[in-house]
Amino acid sequence: MQKKHIVATVSEILPGTHLIVSVEGRSIGIYNINGAFYALRNICPHQGAELCKGLTTAAIVSSKVGDFQYEREGEIVRCPWHQWEFDIKTGCMIVDAAMRTKSYEVSVEKFDVSVDNEQICVHL
Ligand code: FES
Repeated sequence: MQKKHIVATVSEILPGTHLIVSVEGRSIGIYNINGAFYALRNICPHQGAELCKGLTTAAIVSSKVGDFQYEREGEIVRCPWHQWEFDIKTGCMIVDAAMRTKSYEVSVEKFDVSVDNEQICVHL
């Protein structure tokens, strides 16, 4: 059975930002993408870099040589060691979905009425 862990308040992770937290000895990046929260294990499946310390960016797509567009701004994290890119929403590598880092379910709840903001929970 999964256990919920409060990791931050909603106001601590504004849209377009993320926070790296430690939960039960695991380093996890909590991302706010347009008001929705996502959690990724902070380990790159390639050679173990701290993936969530990488640049948050967009996907670059191309239909032909010399033509490209940026899509899904803020939904991709680029590993700081060898630049592999991962979908923050799923943990899957952009060019090979079989390669992935663990993603966790996230919920936003209000456990304590004395706290102004809702809390972000990661489910492990
Ligand atoms: S360790 Fe992340 S791409 Fe190599």
